[in-house]
Amino acid sequence: MTDRGDGFLRDIWYFAVHGRDIAPGALTHKVIAGEPVLLGRTKAGEAFAIRDICPHRGVPLSYGKFIDTDNQPTVQCPYHGWRFGTDGVCKHIPSLYEGQDMDPTRISVASYPLREQQGVLWIWMPSDLRAPSQPDDQPPVMPGVGNRPARIVEKMQLSCHVDNAVIGLIDPAHGPFVHKNWWWRDEGRMREKAKAFAPVKNGFSMVAHKPSANSKVYKLMGGDVKTEISFLLPGVRVEHITAGKHHLVGMTTVTPAGAQTTEITQSFFSTVPWLNVIAPLLKPFVHHFLKQDVDVVNLLQQGLSFDPRLMLINEADVQGKWYFSMKTEWDRARAEGRPFKNPVPETVLRWRS
Ligand code: FES
Ligand SMILES: [Fe+2]
Repeated sequence: MTDRGDGFLRDIWYFAVHGRDIAPGALTHKVIAGEPVLLGRTKAGEAFAIRDICPHRGVPLSYGKFIDTDNQPTVQCPYHGWRFGTDGVCKHIPSLYEGQDMDPTRISVASYPLREQQGVLWIWMPSDLRAPSQPDDQPPVMPGVGNRPARIVEKMQLSCHVDNAVIGLIDPAHGPFVHKNWWWRDEGRMREKAKAFAPVKNGFSMVAHKPSANSKVYKLMGGDVKTEISFLLPGVRVEHITAGKHHLVGMTTVTPAGAQTTEITQSFFSTVPWLNVIAPLLKPFVHHFLKQDVDVVNLLQQGLSFDPRLMLINEADVQGKWYFSMKTEWDRARAEGRPFKNPVPETVLRWRS
């Protein structure tokens, strides 16, 4: 099984961090899907991820420092100075005497496959660290924006399990109540929606449509505006807006740290020159929007602490049901060593929002 009982999917790419947050020569610590991870970047610019626990006596290696061993960058543990390569293999043990019969390279910490694309570091979390799977899949690519990095990034911590964060992310019915903003929409402008959905690789998509007439922001983009919203396992929502020849992509990722801690990151990529220029001015709006979700999750957490039974109703919560059936199928497929069979049907969902 890839699910170890913590409800986190394994053998899958997770959003780790934007690459620019890890400068050359930096070592940082981050808990991802219950695993302590050292995310680092060598002075030459290569990003890597290894388990952040020294196999000798358990000190987090992220408290160590870079030092070269045989002209290769290694991380030196602050306790007894063992040195580990970016592949996790131990390259040097200072306490060994000349000629001592012990080969440091037989010791290693787990290393996690890492991909850096569009300025994003994606990390592969294997189900078994003793016999780690290698990626048989690519991390998601944001459409239409080439290799441009994100222009606006805003992240926050949610005090809930990643499942609740995902349900919140793909819930179409909370908008008019939680995101009541003069520049967005409110309850008084609710309309009946009918949206066509289709399965896509590792997820589903609300196929390209004209955005809600009740969202003022879209009107600013001008021209022939179309938007396509996808959700991909383990927790990536991609909103792709095209306006004429231009693209704006909003990527929302939820990455679990522990059982009750999830990081939500909202990133915007764009080919619209003026949007890239005014990006810093838009940051407060993004912050405000995200904060509304964080605040409601904190309310939710008060109720969830009593472990109530919850419900997902038709048809507004069908996307939530799909999320759970996709997770179950992901685990089954991995356990049975076969490709993921997407359980999402091609269908139209109707609701009011
Ligand atoms: S704990 Fe890391 S070298 Fe001893
Ligand atoms: Fe929301």
